[in-house]
Amino acid sequence: QDIQVTIVGSSNVDITALMRRLPGPGETVLADSYQLSPGGKGANQALAAQLAGAATEFIGAVGNDSHADIALGQLKDAQVVLDRVARSAKPTGVAIIQVDSAAENSIAVVSGANATVDSDAVAEAGQLHGIVVLQGEIPASGITAAMDAATGRVVLNLAPVIELDRAHLLAANPLVVNEHEAALILQQLDASDAPTNDAEPVIAQRLLEHGLASVVITLGANGCLVAERGAPIQQLPAIKVKAVDTTGAGDAFTGALAARLAHGDSLAQAAGFAGRFAALTVQGHGAQSSYPRHLADI
Ligand code: RIB
Ligand code: NA
Repeated sequence: QDIQVTIVGSSNVDITALMRRLPGPGETVLADSYQLSPGGKGANQALAAQLAGAATEFIGAVGNDSHADIALGQLKDAQVVLDRVARSAKPTGVAIIQVDSAAENSIAVVSGANATVDSDAVAEAGQLHGIVVLQGEIPASGITAAMDAATGRVVLNLAPVIELDRAHLLAANPLVVNEHEAALILQQLDASDAPTNDAEPVIAQRLLEHGLASVVITLGANGCLVAERGAPIQQLPAIKVKAVDTTGAGDAFTGALAARLAHGDSLAQAAGFAGRFAALTVQGHGAQSSYPRHLADI
């Protein structure tokens, strides 16, 4: 089958501890339980794209360690193509995650093998098929090399925000970010843009004025904004759900969005679907483990 979505990015083992409240600096709290589960923004997006109906390839790197099997397990089960995942001398990436009873989280990521997904690794991988999806958990040189190698549309989820040159940043179509990331990127594009308290539609508009063809700003429980050059900005509401763990919800959104774009949806249609897909994921613990397996539910 022809690959419709290619994700170049990170894969991690998520070590998640559940607790009533998050510890402050210097504080110890007792947690209720923990789990090891597959995560990493790139791998999460790849699973979401595949479950949302696109034939998906994931390109990244894991270590020669037992964590590698955990990191790739759900992608393998879902039949995401993994032929170009490299084995690195560095350990599989790990994310240390704390989640409290109000679904608030804090995450520290140890990149490990993900740091080897640079321009050399992307050059070695060769041709990238279909819509190409990228995030900020691999080196900037890997992101820009993948953008250059892409033959299809590039979906850039710049999370976390890392420094990218202007030409590549502006080539995203769409740029998918949350409201904080959107404000940071606006400052990156224009140093004279003081730290902005502008409302999200204004930020989206300014990003378009800088030259982006399209921008999607995710707003959590408030849905998302869809901004495209030459069209009015649309605000799409979210469906109301009870959140227990929002880890990986943004990745689910991005992956599902790419899958629907690959099927020919408009950006607003794809974002609507992606919002419903992501809303289902916050009702379950973990990232990939909470992604909906049955499209009929969406
Ligand atoms: O976006 C959520 C992801 O961020 C987690 O799965 C964790 O691995 C970190 O990369
Ligand atoms: Na979840």
